[in-house]
Amino acid sequence: MSYYQVLGFEKEPFSTSPDPDFFYLSKEHEAALTNILIELRLKRGLSVILGDVGMGKTTLSRKLIPELKCREDFIFHIILDPSFAREEDFLAALVHNFELTGNHSSTSPSTPYGRSGRVVSEVEPTSPGPLEMRDSLEKFLFQKGVSEGRTIVLIIDEAQKLNRNTLECLRVLLNYETNEYKLLQLVLLGQLELHSMILGLANFFDRISFKYTLNPLCREETGELIDFRLRQAGYQSSMQLFLDGAVDEIFHFTRGYPRKITMLCHRALKALVMRNRSVVDRVLIRDLVEEEVRAGWVLAGAPVYQK
Ligand SMILES: Nc1ncnc2c1ncn2[C@@H]1O[C@H](COP(=O)(O)OP(=O)(O)OP(=O)(O)O)[C@@H](O)[C@H]1O
Ligand SMILES: [Mg+2]
Repeated sequence: MSYYQVLGFEKEPFSTSPDPDFFYLSKEHEAALTNILIELRLKRGLSVILGDVGMGKTTLSRKLIPELKCREDFIFHIILDPSFAREEDFLAALVHNFELTGNHSSTSPSTPYGRSGRVVSEVEPTSPGPLEMRDSLEKFLFQKGVSEGRTIVLIIDEAQKLNRNTLECLRVLLNYETNEYKLLQLVLLGQLELHSMILGLANFFDRISFKYTLNPLCREETGELIDFRLRQAGYQSSMQLFLDGAVDEIFHFTRGYPRKITMLCHRALKALVMRNRSVVDRVLIRDLVEEEVRAGWVLAGAPVYQK
């Protein structure tokens, strides 16, 4: 029996996977999500979401999926890791994942999120060149976007891994437009270094219609996130499992960074079981943090875990 089942949960409350069911809509996440959806509906082109490591970018992108899936007029695809060395690899991935006719082969693995509804039949024996692939993409965008009135969305997570060539390629795709709207809706989610990367590319930076930086949660939201995840995992008691003092400490040590909150809470619940205790209090959280410091798991100079 798992530790969380011992505590009466149906699911693991503080798993670190980006499960949208465990996504707590903080002010920051809600603002980002609402604005992205508005931008997509208005077909404004490029949105960029920045956030430090573990701030919830991937979880946010997963949260977008059901919103896009329920719109029949949307065609969307997510690239989870855009570390393509060459422009042609990137183009081939797009051609493949949007399932363009011509059925070009691709060097990138497909993710399960494409849903343009076409069946890929055969793979061409010879790979097309970048010009040909760009041409196919342009035709696809005009056919779907103008003739069929659909909205084509490309979401790229870990966008800080895009290189100059792939960014330039995206810039070209963003140029395809009618008098009223852009044909490709692009959402980039990336760590903070993405900002300096695109800042150096004036004609890319200029095209950003919506930019947003996800900031950490405040104390109140840290408590709400913990409570939300406990309830989603099946906690029903009216008794507080994490006392206010514990939440104060969690907020202090994690500075409101969602992944750090999640990981510390996970350790706290495991400790409850191992120590045969019934609530998480301030002392327990301090003990856990001290254990980590003693074991040398805290990076030298890290502001987290300093009092
Ligand atoms: N709004 C949220 N509500 C609940 N849990 C969250 C939230 N945001 C993030 N988390 C949790 O924090 C962890 C990290 O989230 P995620 O992987 O989305 O961060 P990230 O910004 O993509 O990190 P990285 O920069 O390392 O890719 C996950 O366990 C996720 O479940
Ligand atoms: Mg991520």
